[in-house]
Amino acid sequence: MDAHKQLTIGLFGFGTVGEGLYKVLQQTPSLNATIKKICIKNPEKKRDAPANLFTTERNELLFDPEINVIVEVINETEPAFQIVSTALKNKKAVVSASKKMIAEHLPEMLELQQQTGEPFLYEASCCASIPVLRNLEEYYDNDLLHSIQAIVNGSTNFILTKMFEEKLDFHEALLLAQQLGFAESDPALDIEGHDAVNKWAIMLAHAYGIIEHPQKLVFNGIENVNLGDAAVAKEKNHDIKLVAQAKKLANGKVAAFVLPQFVKQENHLAFVRNEYNGVVIESGFADKQFFYGKGAGSFPTASAVLSDISALRYQYKYEYKKLYHHVPNKLTSDFFVKAYVSFDDWKFIPREKFEWIEEWHAGEARKYLVGGLHFSELQENSWWKENNTSLILLPDAIIEDIEIRKLKKKSLELAGVV
Ligand code: HSE
Repeated sequence: MDAHKQLTIGLFGFGTVGEGLYKVLQQTPSLNATIKKICIKNPEKKRDAPANLFTTERNELLFDPEINVIVEVINETEPAFQIVSTALKNKKAVVSASKKMIAEHLPEMLELQQQTGEPFLYEASCCASIPVLRNLEEYYDNDLLHSIQAIVNGSTNFILTKMFEEKLDFHEALLLAQQLGFAESDPALDIEGHDAVNKWAIMLAHAYGIIEHPQKLVFNGIENVNLGDAAVAKEKNHDIKLVAQAKKLANGKVAAFVLPQFVKQENHLAFVRNEYNGVVIESGFADKQFFYGKGAGSFPTASAVLSDISALRYQYKYEYKKLYHHVPNKLTSDFFVKAYVSFDDWKFIPREKFEWIEEWHAGEARKYLVGGLHFSELQENSWWKENNTSLILLPDAIIEDIEIRKLKKKSLELAGVV
């Protein structure tokens, strides 16, 4: 395609993102992109666009030879997969925001792109308005990308901000996030961390060439984070954030997870409030860089879809450089994490699983300890997210084997054993 080529769009979905895109396109005539048809599920719903644009027949879009771009921003995962697959096979370029579908079907999507040679872009699926995927794909060389720490879910960040700064209760904050169009239609996807880990699986593919099913990654949401935890955070002058993290370890493999974490004031992520997202990238020579922007909502998400549509004019495609042109990185669970764990009763906590415990508070109704766990413990067992137990990582939580040996040696030295 070239800059003057007319992009004729078939749009699937007219919810928060679809309607946002419709309005944004009306304000960007120079793009030369028009929506020919919009496929929706419910024809009865009143829509703020001419009635003749709408249809409930998906094939009217998928098999229209004039439509050269399919934009898919629907909610349901399997129909989204069908629509995107059919569109690519029919030689149409596709732009999608369906993070759950993309994360869960990444191997098939990779294969389809290779088979058809068609562009499949999905910048809006991760961190909405922040151009993070194209940057991870194009800018950062594999060897130099040391770590990424990110807030990738706007709703949970919004809820944590409203709870801890404005003293709203959890349900009020969630209701507000829903009213503002940030939350998923099933908000459990946000609160339990599914949305964040879906985005993280997609980002890992572009950052490190790691293709992993999101449900196989270690993750949690914010449903067990409580006011007692917030009080401890305040004492330590930390914030609590839901942080997605990936770090290249000394063995060349990558540690990756999505967990609540105490964040120091000087960490850029502490600056990220409400529905904003933030990404801190640490790379060789450049040191730290911080991307910041709205991570949810109609126009911020539509702006990323728009940018993808615009990129189609110069035939932009993801090359998955870290996967196909480098030796892809591998995930590892061979490291330790330093965690704060608060709980109602000691009986829920397998103390013997901790490599070390350096702090514990047992007197109160709500008890807590701070200690070190081997990461495989989080991978293999779920006591840490059951029975109202709240696990929050400490800042600089990842401890590699080498360091722990040093730590153990040091404590033995201090005890006069060696
Ligand atoms: N529910 C998502 C969020 C929407 O809160 O981040 C944007 O992907």
